[in-house]
Amino acid sequence: MPNSLIIVVIMVLAPIIIVYADEPSFTDEQYIYVGQKSNAMSTGEKLLILQSRKIVQDFKRRLGKTLKYSLKSAGPASAIKTCSEIAPKLATEFSEKFQIKIYRVSLKNRNLIQGKPDQWETIRLKDFDEHKTLLEKDAFLETSEITNESDRFYFRYMQALSVKPLCLTCHGEKNYIPVEVKQILRRIYPNDTATEYRIGDIRGAVSIKKLMH
Ligand code: HEC
Repeated sequence: MPNSLIIVVIMVLAPIIIVYADEPSFTDEQYIYVGQKSNAMSTGEKLLILQSRKIVQDFKRRLGKTLKYSLKSAGPASAIKTCSEIAPKLATEFSEKFQIKIYRVSLKNRNLIQGKPDQWETIRLKDFDEHKTLLEKDAFLETSEITNESDRFYFRYMQALSVKPLCLTCHGEKNYIPVEVKQILRRIYPNDTATEYRIGDIRGAVSIKKLMH
């Protein structure tokens, strides 16, 4: 091939290669997307999903660690306090750090204010519920969308939280929850509906909302 032809081929191919190489590697078998994934999902949205996965992972790790530690060191009754104080505090810390809103929601929420899903979250939480059998060990159900609310665009992301044995102490069937835990829950959360869960159920989700500029 003459040198000039090689140069032309390189010039044509280089931008294409750069564009494809730039695409974030977003396919990860651990993550199962629930809902309709737009074919035209932009690179920007994919990057936001990748960032959200990291934030949620970190959020869950911090919360899980604190919860496990207080369950072990102080028992389930004291761990309720950890959950009711630490979870909202951690949500505020992460929201400020990443300039987003992050919180936990559920169709059967215990925290009547922060835990209550909005319309978008309600629909997607029901979707998660319908797909809970997809939850294999170490897999995560996720969903996202760019929404338009009163002429403002938001990136929305949710990742399901599944019920593990640890959760049953405070969210399980009533006769499984220790009496002292039940008493405290009744006192702090008189309208609590977040019980009667079984292992493998979707307990709720971590939700992220980010204003797009
Ligand atoms: C020691 C008791 C305890 C354990 C164990 C526990 N939770 Fe909770 N959970 C709570 C309390 C208390 C709240 C309400 C926190 C608040 O006021 O924000 C809560 C709230 C939540 C919420 C927010 C939505 C809502 O209902 O308000 C989710 C989601 C949740 N828990 C998931 C889980 C999962 C998943 C596990 C297991 C990995 C778990 N919890 C284990 C006590 C517990």
